[in-house]
Amino acid sequence: MAQKAKMILEKDFKVSEIDNRIFGSFIEHLGRAVYGGIYQPGHPQADENGFRQDVMEMVKELQVPIIRYPGGNFVSGYNWEDGVGPVENRPRRLDLAWRTTETNEIGTNELMKWAKLVNADVNMAVNLGTRGIDAARNLVEYCNHPGGSYYSDLRISHGYNDPHKIKTWCLGNEMDGPWQIGSKTAEEYGRIAAEAAKVMKWVDPTIELVACGSSGRGMPTFADWEATVLEHTYDHVEFISLHQYYGNRDNDISNYLAMTLEMDDFIRSVISIADYIKAKKRGKKNINLSFDEWNVWYHSNDADKKIEPWSIAPPQLEDHYNFEDALLVGCMLITLLKHANRIKIACLAQLINVIAPIMTEENGPAWKQTIFYPYMHASVFGRGVSLNPIISSPKYDSKDFTDVPYLESTAVYNEENEQLTIFAVNRHLTEGLELDCDIRNFDGYEVVEHIVLENDDLKQTNSAKGTPVAPHSNGNAVIDNGLVSAVLPKLSWNVIRLAKRK
Ligand code: AHR
Repeated sequence: MAQKAKMILEKDFKVSEIDNRIFGSFIEHLGRAVYGGIYQPGHPQADENGFRQDVMEMVKELQVPIIRYPGGNFVSGYNWEDGVGPVENRPRRLDLAWRTTETNEIGTNELMKWAKLVNADVNMAVNLGTRGIDAARNLVEYCNHPGGSYYSDLRISHGYNDPHKIKTWCLGNEMDGPWQIGSKTAEEYGRIAAEAAKVMKWVDPTIELVACGSSGRGMPTFADWEATVLEHTYDHVEFISLHQYYGNRDNDISNYLAMTLEMDDFIRSVISIADYIKAKKRGKKNINLSFDEWNVWYHSNDADKKIEPWSIAPPQLEDHYNFEDALLVGCMLITLLKHANRIKIACLAQLINVIAPIMTEENGPAWKQTIFYPYMHASVFGRGVSLNPIISSPKYDSKDFTDVPYLESTAVYNEENEQLTIFAVNRHLTEGLELDCDIRNFDGYEVVEHIVLENDDLKQTNSAKGTPVAPHSNGNAVIDNGLVSAVLPKLSWNVIRLAKRK
């Protein structure tokens, strides 16, 4: 017998308007993300800049609104000056974060040019590991000042007359992690982040800044770190960051799919800390959340141990995602949308080749991983207002979690286009879930499409040879008198698209 779940959606039960930056992604100078990913001169698909057009097409399909760059761990040892000006003068450097050699063929300007071609903004990270305030303010001047000063004129002399106008900036990366080049205590980081933020905004007061939160909820300093950093930076920043990666290391699907309950708790905890600091300071503004690294990451861990040190763009962090990973990514996307009132930026880490939805063959095509699909659906159909559904679902217990709802779901209302989209995962291993969704005051709405991602083999992956894990539009959602009914197949990702009848 199928399980049954109920949901109620009301136009006025709103979480918040969704900031499109919640559908962001990330490109680090790491592995084949940049070299062999976005840039591969000589490849049959390369344009006059050396950018792979097959990759650009897929990025555009994802409608990625913002891309975090250039790291990640890489940024903590990066001299941005190495990556600008004539390419033949750029130095090769040892990248100590990933033990590779960085050629600097691609730097700030090339990345900005590429981002423009794929219609994305950039979320630029500054190096607060080996460098600091001076390099950070100079980079803001180089990128954003119109002209008439040393660094803005330097940009112009490099052939970029117009300022890049980068709005969103990260104050370093994972500065609490002992693996980080120049890692810091919360006090040390809080001080340098506040001072860097202050002068970066003196150069360009329109920018928004993200302070580093803990590099994960499991860090021993988690919570104290956030509180101390925000004590120092509250007046100078708009965001605190969160990072989280999951993996099905124990091959326990029930537990794996429940991990977003922990993600939800992590988000709530960081909101509480941000609000505590606001209260303590008698502040007026909320510090919002930038979940600027999230994904599944574990498949490639062993392979990465065998990489020859100081190689150029080796295949690093190349997780080949399977069907169950796509389900978890779907649950993670739903969790982010549920908190759209405080999460205004989120970045799927990463975008190409490195723990990525898009992969490339060196001498062949680009191809779509399983996780490409839920990410694309959320980005394309998830723009608008995040709704707060009332859900009742049967539940289960797993190894680490209790009361895990079989139905993980939320909905987005796009008032302008008069569209309503329900995103839903059925976590049940063997049974379909009969969903009844009362859409009340959405008068005259009809089902446009019920997209389903399902597969009998949880471990099925895609490759350049084919995409056996791909969505179909044969879901059975129907609407009758304001009640949407659908059977969500066992272990499936669903997108039920409704629109006002014309
Ligand atoms: O995304 C891969 C790495 O994960 C990033 O460089 C780092 O910030 C995190 O630990």
